[in-house]
Amino acid sequence: MRIVSGSAHSILASEIATILRVPFAPSDIHVFPDGEKRVRIDEKIVGENVVVVQPTSPPVDANCMELFFLLDAVKRSGAASICAVVPYIGYQRQDHVFVSGEAVSLSVVIKILESAGIDRVVCFDLHSIKIPQLFTTTSLSHLSALPLFAELIKKNKWMEESVLVSPDMGGIRRVKQLSRQLGNMPYASIEKNRDLTTGAVSADILHGEVAKRALIVDDIISSGRTVETAAALLKEKGVERIYVFATHPVFSNETPYVLQNAPVEKVFVTNTIAVPKEKQFGKLEVLSIAPLIAEELLKPATSN
Ligand code: R5P
Repeated sequence: MRIVSGSAHSILASEIATILRVPFAPSDIHVFPDGEKRVRIDEKIVGENVVVVQPTSPPVDANCMELFFLLDAVKRSGAASICAVVPYIGYQRQDHVFVSGEAVSLSVVIKILESAGIDRVVCFDLHSIKIPQLFTTTSLSHLSALPLFAELIKKNKWMEESVLVSPDMGGIRRVKQLSRQLGNMPYASIEKNRDLTTGAVSADILHGEVAKRALIVDDIISSGRTVETAAALLKEKGVERIYVFATHPVFSNETPYVLQNAPVEKVFVTNTIAVPKEKQFGKLEVLSIAPLIAEELLKPATSN
């Protein structure tokens, strides 16, 4: 096996290679003055099982194109099999038509990905349960960060006097799943409204009982407004301490500032996306998914 990394998250790629004790081959990526990229694999990979690691996080389009080029380069270099590890798949919140006339952008991305002739995709916590159906020719390993969160919650004994909270109705399934992993811990959910034009978030209805401590669980933190709004509502309802758990730290623009100033104690995310120094903040803690990916890569791919 060989691990090849794009430029989006080489630290994760090298962590996976270290765990698996396999060679790590950083790719040679040249950016031309007009912004185009030329991608080259600088290693002999004929007959190898090659794993390409590249989350398609912001800048989403640039990272998507780089991934497609890398997969093409690996294919042309004679790899025996190709697995794309895309821990965060960009465009996943555009998985269906919300307003008539729109493109289903995620479906386009998946079609291009599959056309690269890959055998397997490994990803984490997809936004909706319908997304796996969009993969038609590739074996999909859909992993979750919830077991990491469950372990942390158990270790800190945060199951007592606590409630799991989904910050929107779409996330209830996720919270129920975590509740089961924690011996049916109580959960609640918030009715969130987002203005599709401005992106403004509001929430004033909470379903379920609150407790002294609330653990907000979400898949993505992008602007941070969902977490900020949910935390404000929970405080209003009398919750004393709030902890946040989210798989994908998209962290666009001023998100670190929003989260650092939100009424929460800690924000736990995973490294499905690299969090550069300038986006780190005091309340942030990043958990590694590398061991989960390494374990998955040792298993045979399953057919969809
Ligand atoms: C929405 O359905 C997702 O599960 C997240 O709650 C949302 O993407 C978070 O976005 P933001 O941080 O911009 O509020």
